[in-house]
Amino acid sequence: MRTLLTGGAGYIGSHTAIAMIEAGHEVAVVDNYYNSSPEAIRRVEQITGKKIALYEADSADKDRMREILAKERPDCIIHFAGLKAVGESVAKPVEYYRNNIDTTLTLLECMKELGLTNFVFSSSATVYGEDNIPPFTETMPKGACTNPYGWTKWMQEQILRDAAFASEKEDSKLSVVLLRYFNPVGAHESGLIGEDPQGIPNNLMPYISQVAVRRRDHLTVFGDDYDTPDGTCRRDYIHVMDLAEGHVAAAEYAVNNKGTEVFNLGTGNPYSVLDMVKAFSNACGHPVKYEIGPRRAGDVQDSWANADKAKEVLGWEAKRGIDEICRDAWNWQSHNPNGYDK
Ligand code: NAD
Ligand code: UFG
Repeated sequence: MRTLLTGGAGYIGSHTAIAMIEAGHEVAVVDNYYNSSPEAIRRVEQITGKKIALYEADSADKDRMREILAKERPDCIIHFAGLKAVGESVAKPVEYYRNNIDTTLTLLECMKELGLTNFVFSSSATVYGEDNIPPFTETMPKGACTNPYGWTKWMQEQILRDAAFASEKEDSKLSVVLLRYFNPVGAHESGLIGEDPQGIPNNLMPYISQVAVRRRDHLTVFGDDYDTPDGTCRRDYIHVMDLAEGHVAAAEYAVNNKGTEVFNLGTGNPYSVLDMVKAFSNACGHPVKYEIGPRRAGDVQDSWANADKAKEVLGWEAKRGIDEICRDAWNWQSHNPNGYDK
């Protein structure tokens, strides 16, 4: 299968490129490097020994995307490109709505013009909102999101679903797979690629990694007064290579089916913030320093997946646990303390 990954130089896209190539598929990547570096793709080529067609382009630019898609004619597009920082989306909502929604609309328009039909989308568990009780199942109603980033995912899901429904009456029937990721963490086993956030990390695992490598003094744990066994929030942390392999299964499903299907990509196992600190301390061989701070606005107490549907329909399930997650995150961070920017 020929695949095209928008945002393929980013964290999840670069790991997915490896999994796709290992499964025998071809990969082309489009990225504007807003939050990434072409170095990630160079390293994917080093790991896989395969050449990747790499295009520097904005996925919202219709002329460029039409040209690239006409040349590549992918069997499946996997749309990772997007802005993803929750806090930044509150400060810059218009930029988030513009970038995230425009990229999806542009791709749908180009696909229609070119007769391309298969699409996999990076959605998020954030669409379950605050009112559903975990484990989240795909049949639960989507909830109200707590920030513009979450709403862009919510809206893009709806746009894609509507487009697939309308296409049922057309010659080129769309196949859309919406993947709701839980908390992607860890790195490729080689330690050559991993998560490389700009500035101060917003997310737990990159923050812990930077404390462990002594780039930051300590982690602030956002609240220990939640109604959980140790008082800290619980999440479903999924190894990024498990997530990547989930995309291979999803893309293979997309090319063989029509209509819209939604899958959670999670492990089904919740871990607390302090569980992750402990597991990382074991992996790196010294205690990760932390202090308890106030709750962070917008955090939900608990979020984890019911991952049965992906197992039953896609034949995929996460295989790696938190020890592998912390081992691989540490391997990446300790060998690349400043990320790709050596
Ligand atoms: P990332 O920032 O590392 O990757 C996104 C990539 O898209 C970057 O390389 C960026 O340069 C590129 N990009 C952004 N706008 C673009 C545009 N208009 N044209 C071309 N390229 C563009 O983020 P990631 O963690 O790899 O996330 C990938 C996708 O998964 C995103 O859509 C994100 O919202 C979604 N997601 C991520 C998480 C997570 O915790 N990492 C959770 C749920 C969903
Ligand atoms: N946390 C800390 N200290 C930190 C950072 C995080 O204690 O410095 C805690 C948070 O309070 C939360 C947990 O660690 O309890 C995980 O936080 P992350 O920021 O790593 O992840 P979130 O679950 O908040 O958010 C993630 C993605 C979002 C996505 C959301 C729901 O980053 O893009 O999951 O899918 F929207």
